[in-house]
Amino acid sequence: TKRIRTHHLREMKERGERFAMLTAYDMYTAATFDEAGIEVLLVGDSASNNVYGNETSLPVTVDELLPLTRAVSRSVKRALVVGDLPFGSYQASPEQGYLTAVRFMKEAGAHCIKLEGGAEMAPVIEKCTQGGIPVMAHIGFTPQSEHTLGGYRVQGRGDAADRVLRDAHAVEGAGAFAVVLEMVPGEVAAQVTKELTIPTIGIGAGADCDGQVLVWQDAFGLRTGRMATFVKQYADVHGVLLDAARAYADEVRAGTFPGPEHTF
Ligand code: KIV
Ligand code: NA
Repeated sequence: TKRIRTHHLREMKERGERFAMLTAYDMYTAATFDEAGIEVLLVGDSASNNVYGNETSLPVTVDELLPLTRAVSRSVKRALVVGDLPFGSYQASPEQGYLTAVRFMKEAGAHCIKLEGGAEMAPVIEKCTQGGIPVMAHIGFTPQSEHTLGGYRVQGRGDAADRVLRDAHAVEGAGAFAVVLEMVPGEVAAQVTKELTIPTIGIGAGADCDGQVLVWQDAFGLRTGRMATFVKQYADVHGVLLDAARAYADEVRAGTFPGPEHTF
């Protein structure tokens, strides 16, 4: 199997073929999603709330994300592995952004990086791209800016559509190879997708993007509780683990595990 490269995603867009992206934060999920043919695996800063137990993505650090990214990049044969730059690790300057991105490439084997922001991030995107690091941009609702954006809200409604379009063109112009559109009205995402030559990847951005991304714990039901309306649940991993853990504990308490076949 040939590795997915950034140019393959652009060629898929040109052919009108959609591609799938998921988060992954460890060896077995990465290998399984790779085996399933998921084209892109994102070691998201969403590890903050999905691995490290924080309430938001803000607290997670580069040093916490690098080992997860290394585990994922070691475990795939085909998928493109995206390292997600966490809050505060690239916004200070293009130099800071480049040096952080280099760590994801050198220390963790990422194939490219993702960072949040539109026109204001163009210099960082340019610096990374010129320095040999492909950049996936992320516009619309950007969780790292939750406190500036006033909470989890759809971006680009009404007049704000212009802002999303401007940001999309700015990141493409700066050299991004793809752009995530998060919580953007479907019509706006469709227009961005039509106007850009680089692929768009939607999350809460309708069906007309070139690719889609979801956080796997949400999509496959490891996380329970309130879910954003854009999440579809494809499995009940929480239920599977809960039943397995209870069955195991029951058998241990009853003395039926281990059986003779498990005993030396
Ligand atoms: O960190 C993350 O999981 C993400 C995706 C949801 C796009 O940025
Ligand atoms: Na992220």
